[in-house]
This record gives sequence, structure tokens and C-alpha cells, in this order.
Amino acid sequence: MKHLLKLEDWSTEEIINTLNLADQLKYEQKHGIEHKHLKGKTLGMIFEKSSTRTRVSFEVGMTQLGGYPLFLSSNDLQIGRGEPVEDTARVLSRFLDGIMIRTFEQSEVEALAEHGSIPIINGLTDYCHPCQVLADLMTIREFKGKLEGLKMCFIGDGNNMMNSLIVGALSTGMSFSAACPEGYMPPQNIIEFGEKYGKGKFEIVHDPIEAAKNADVVYTDVWASMGQEEEKKIREAAFAGYQVNADLMAVTNPDCMVLHCLPAHRGEEITADVFEAHANEIFEEAENRLHAQKAVLVECMADKGNTRDND
Ligand code: CP
Ligand code: NVA
Repeated sequence: MKHLLKLEDWSTEEIINTLNLADQLKYEQKHGIEHKHLKGKTLGMIFEKSSTRTRVSFEVGMTQLGGYPLFLSSNDLQIGRGEPVEDTARVLSRFLDGIMIRTFEQSEVEALAEHGSIPIINGLTDYCHPCQVLADLMTIREFKGKLEGLKMCFIGDGNNMMNSLIVGALSTGMSFSAACPEGYMPPQNIIEFGEKYGKGKFEIVHDPIEAAKNADVVYTDVWASMGQEEEKKIREAAFAGYQVNADLMAVTNPDCMVLHCLPAHRGEEITADVFEAHANEIFEEAENRLHAQKAVLVECMADKGNTRDND
């Protein structure tokens, strides 16, 4: 059974195959070619946090694939009243063909996979955001024609986005640099993942300008993630200076892209002028959530032999 619990569970080949399938599905959707690989299948979508892109891209994507998306708010599910995830997993496995979950703890996603018997897709946890990074890699390849040899730079919090970007970038032949304030570094296991690639390929520093030198892609995310609302003021102070702005872009390579998973806070992690100068890349990235998600759904949920051909 194939899950997407975190990106480090997938090999480079699996990531690249998914990007290729995402490109194909994007082409088919743009050209009105039917691609109902998941006809008759139902995806449960559990949301314990807010969402615009993930909710809509999974729901629309599942519909375009001929399946049915079922939105399940944790406010309504018994899981929100303390029903164990082990029982929820076993019950939902009898109704559904797959589950996409957005929640806080990575362990909840892993427990669903352990106790259920259907594919589980991580739609964001505090630890990682693999679906977003597949869309990001797809977008970079679309604009730059390749991933291998490019330098990605992340400015900001060592959070779920940065964790998955490190894995996604390094697994596909990019180098990765980041600037994080003291105390906001990624977790040790992710640093160790990066260090295996060596200093020329992976570096985390405190100075944003140093990190951005010769970057081909600059990426940033909010200073306070969902669930960290109470730390907003402390974080605003800690992250002052960790901003993607014209000074930072001046040291990057010519034609450097700027990506943002969104939602963006203009005037905090990114200035309005840099955001708007790169809006075509950022909103293509947002659209690519749809195509990348559909590829993940097909890879995880389609019957074998039904992944490449149209019905
Ligand atoms: N980037 C992203 O996951 O957006 P949503 O929170 O709107 O789903
Ligand atoms: N780091 C952000 C990403 C949102 C897509 C959060 O977790 O809120």
C-alpha cells in the first residue's frame, strides 16, 4: 500500500514519477482529455486546521479524476470528541478508498496509516507539507526546465515547509541553503538528512543575504504557522530582518524565482513589491497544487494498471 506520510518516505524515482504524472494530468486537463483514474472511489478529507488551497485542490482534483471527495471536519467527527485515531482509522477504512488528513501531530497521520487499511495522504502537519513541495518542484521544473543543479534558498522559520523543502530539493539534485533565526532551526533529524549531502549542497546560516547568494529559487513562508497564533508577537521580533525583499533579491542569480506556499503576509516575510514581481510564479505554484495532488491521488489510490491510461 502506498501512503504519502512524509516526503522522506518516497525515493527520488517516486518523486520524479509523480512530477511527470502531474505534468501529464495538467496537460490532459488543459486539453479536455478525460482522466478518470479514480472512478467510483471516495476520498475522506479530514481537516483539523484551516485550508483554502489544500481543501479546494483535493476536492476539485478528486472530482476531475472521477471520484468523490468527502469533507470531514474534526468539529463534526467523533475524533474531535476523543475517539481514538486507531478506531477512526479502522472504521473509515471500511467506508473510504483513501484519506487525506491535515492535522497538528505527525504521529496522528502515522497512526492512521498503521491502524487503517487504505492509503493515507498528509495534507500538512506541524512537521511537514509534502503535497505542497511536490507542487513546488513541479513549478520550478516548469519555469526552469530542470531541478538538478539549481540552488534553492529558504528564508524564515525551520517549520513544516522548510522540512519538506529540504527533503524535496536535495532528493531531486538541487542544493539547499537557508537562513533561520537562532532558536528556529529545523529539527535534528532533518538537519542530519541535509548534512548527508555535504556542505556544498546543504547549509543553514543566520544571515539571509549569505543564504540567498546565487540562489535560483527563493522560498519563504509565514513567521507564525497555524497553531502558533499566540506566539505571533514574539515571532515578529525574532524574524525581523528575515524578509524576502529587493536587497535580498539583488544577490541572487539573474531570473531567480520566488515561491511562497501561501497565505502570504506582505510586509512581514515578503515585501509587496517582490511578491507582485513574482506573482506569475507564485500563482502557478498555487494552481499546481491541483495537478500535483491529482498525481499523488492516482499514485496512492488507483488500481494497479490504471495509472497512465484513460478510462
Ligand atoms: N499552501 C497551503 O497549503 O494552503 P492552504 O493552507 O490554503 O491549504
Ligand atoms: N507553515 C504554514 C504553512 C501553511 C501552508 C502553516 O503551517 O501554517
